[in-house]
Amino acid sequence: MSWHATTTIYQIYPRSFYDSNGDGIGDLQGIIQKLDYIKDLGFETIWISPFYCSPQEDFGYDISDYYNIAPEYGTLQDVEQLISEIHQRNMKVVFDMVMNHTSDKHPWFLESRSSRDNPKADWYIWRDQPNNWKSIVGPNGWQYCAERNQYYYASFLPFQPDLNYRNPEVKKAMFDVCRFWLQKGVDGFRLDIFNCIIKDKDFKDNPFSLFHILPSEEHPGGNFQIRKHSLNQEENFELAQELRSVINEFNHPPRMLLGEVFGGHDKIKQYLGKKQDGLHLVFLFDILYYKFNADFFRKKILEYEHHYPAPNMPTAVFSNHDQLRSIHRIGNNLEKAKLLALLQFTMRAVPCVYYGEEIGMTDGKIPIKEGKDPMVNVYSWVPQFIADRLPVGINRDNCRTPMQWNNQKNAGFSVAEKTWLPLNKDVEKRNAEEQLSDKESLLNVFKKLILLRKSSPAMHSGTIEIIHTGNKNILAYVRSCKDEKLLVLINFSKSKITNNISQPIKKVVFSIKSKKTFEGILDGFDGVILKI
Ligand code: NOJ
Repeated sequence: MSWHATTTIYQIYPRSFYDSNGDGIGDLQGIIQKLDYIKDLGFETIWISPFYCSPQEDFGYDISDYYNIAPEYGTLQDVEQLISEIHQRNMKVVFDMVMNHTSDKHPWFLESRSSRDNPKADWYIWRDQPNNWKSIVGPNGWQYCAERNQYYYASFLPFQPDLNYRNPEVKKAMFDVCRFWLQKGVDGFRLDIFNCIIKDKDFKDNPFSLFHILPSEEHPGGNFQIRKHSLNQEENFELAQELRSVINEFNHPPRMLLGEVFGGHDKIKQYLGKKQDGLHLVFLFDILYYKFNADFFRKKILEYEHHYPAPNMPTAVFSNHDQLRSIHRIGNNLEKAKLLALLQFTMRAVPCVYYGEEIGMTDGKIPIKEGKDPMVNVYSWVPQFIADRLPVGINRDNCRTPMQWNNQKNAGFSVAEKTWLPLNKDVEKRNAEEQLSDKESLLNVFKKLILLRKSSPAMHSGTIEIIHTGNKNILAYVRSCKDEKLLVLINFSKSKITNNISQPIKKVVFSIKSKKTFEGILDGFDGVILKI
């Protein structure tokens, strides 16, 4: 099986990971200094959120030069060193590639907006009259530009104009950007809002829907509109295949494409290609909004097996830089977080872990009014007491607070007087140093699970079969590969449960409560992996 299917991914938000030069902002040398930490946890792939030149209005997701590095993060040499240091440690590195849009300060856009007849006039999506398309954030996606007396389209925020991929020059320019980084040795790309890139060529209006007020995984953006003609178009699936052939030009070693796409499984699975000739992996975000019970996850596993059967590989993602941290959904409970880790590293999927998830980092408490995240401008009308109760984060600063390394100043993130975002208050037990030295910590559960997963073909490449134990609070499944069979049992309730296991148990290979034997009884919030 190719590496992309068996790997484990650690996501770094560079601004918040480690500040090597004391300016209060994380940087590339900071990442280099912490590579041994990630290696020691056992992760095999590192995905780094964008660090290219950018006015930082959306902290790097608004790129003004794809070929250079934002000075606060470092230099081109630093990136080269980073790639090589990651490879020396036998890990892979995946960069973030924002193909859908640039910053409105990118020279391409400055030229494009200057007149209707400049050489880049058609590089973005311009119209005399806007249609009814709303952005995926909610409001109208069309922005007026006086110089051209026209409107340009932005799928996300107004300062992120969408490129026009119906112009072959644009496609070539962006594919060349990818080639540049592949040449430098990067092992693949995480593709930002890839499903927005190609829109309906006739600009047909999107359907109105009274029922789609709030955004959902299947219907992003909400606001009474189904994004039928502005998302997940047939040509977008084809673009995935075209990009696949670009990366295939660099097949030694093989590279991978991981798509940020949303809109229901029937749509997003098409990005993988009928012959596995599209993207290698897509994020499955529906699990982010989990309900902490066995039934929810049982259904998810079955759903993923239905939509993404082998040789496809689903992904398992509970947190990222856009969402409330997963631990928030379980009341910041570390015991429950261990169960989620057990599930994440043993279900048939590529686990994607967001920095700090391994220590149970919690969300910050930065009010909307103080938010640096540009999304707060869209939602500034939402009263804070309502925002605090929503299941989704409005101010994404809260999931981007600096990594908590130790108990010292700024939790060891930076020596600066002021860090770009304030540190969380709960650093005492939720820091890497403390948890490294505690055998029973969440971090050490991650470590043990990753190690086990790597050494077990059943876990990283095997099949999965749901087992019914007679108790609905137990999630049970068997991972198998050739002669190796591992039974995973997870007790989602706080009560002790006796399990009737028909298969003979050969050995306990992992137990959350570090038990060496298994007599059929699982304590509340306990989980085990048994060799059968
Ligand atoms: C999705 C990214 O994950 C998010 O952080 C960013 O703001 C938007 N795309 C726009 O690029």
